[in-house]
Amino acid sequence: MRILLTKTQIADKVQELGAQISEDYQDKNPILIGLLKGSVVFLADLMRTLTIPHTIDFIRASSYGAGMTSSGQVRVTSMDVDVENRHVLLIEDIIDSGVTLQYIKEVFLEKKPASLCVCALLDKPASRRTSEKVDYCGFTIPDVFVVGYGLDWNEQYRHLPYVAVVEEQKNGP
Ligand code: IMP
Ligand code: MG
Repeated sequence: MRILLTKTQIADKVQELGAQISEDYQDKNPILIGLLKGSVVFLADLMRTLTIPHTIDFIRASSYGAGMTSSGQVRVTSMDVDVENRHVLLIEDIIDSGVTLQYIKEVFLEKKPASLCVCALLDKPASRRTSEKVDYCGFTIPDVFVVGYGLDWNEQYRHLPYVAVVEEQKNGP
């Protein structure tokens, strides 16, 4: 594995995003909605940089099966969040094809939020298959498979304090 983003780089960026979100959402009491499980670490750090009132919640959706290949199908297993008239900020670990995000946004827009924006730690625009844009983006990265800081490879490596590239190997990282 090769480190792509260090713990310090990530912390600085999260602080920056938090400052911007605090400014943009002043007096709006936004609801940060994390997509499980990948956004857990990012959301936990991001919320502690916010200087404004806000609430959090989580939904569960996945477009990935095991390993590194996308099934291209989104499954939502839990989305019991009331967002009517709320300013919603979807928190994602990474936007890859954009299929997950497109689907989640459609579902949320039907619930009539006051606004709906997306904050993702990582963006891989090279592999985008939709027109999804990220409103608050931490880092734009090349089309490589990464783990750490919440991101997994077969459920492993989420705990790493940095983001690392999984080099191509027969038996994984
Ligand atoms: P999308 O629907 O293709 O945009 O996929 C988004 C989801 O796929 C993310 O929330 C991640 O869980 C997963 N994913 C995409 N790229 C990576 C990666 O490089 N490492 C780990 N998970 C990834
Ligand atoms: Mg995942």
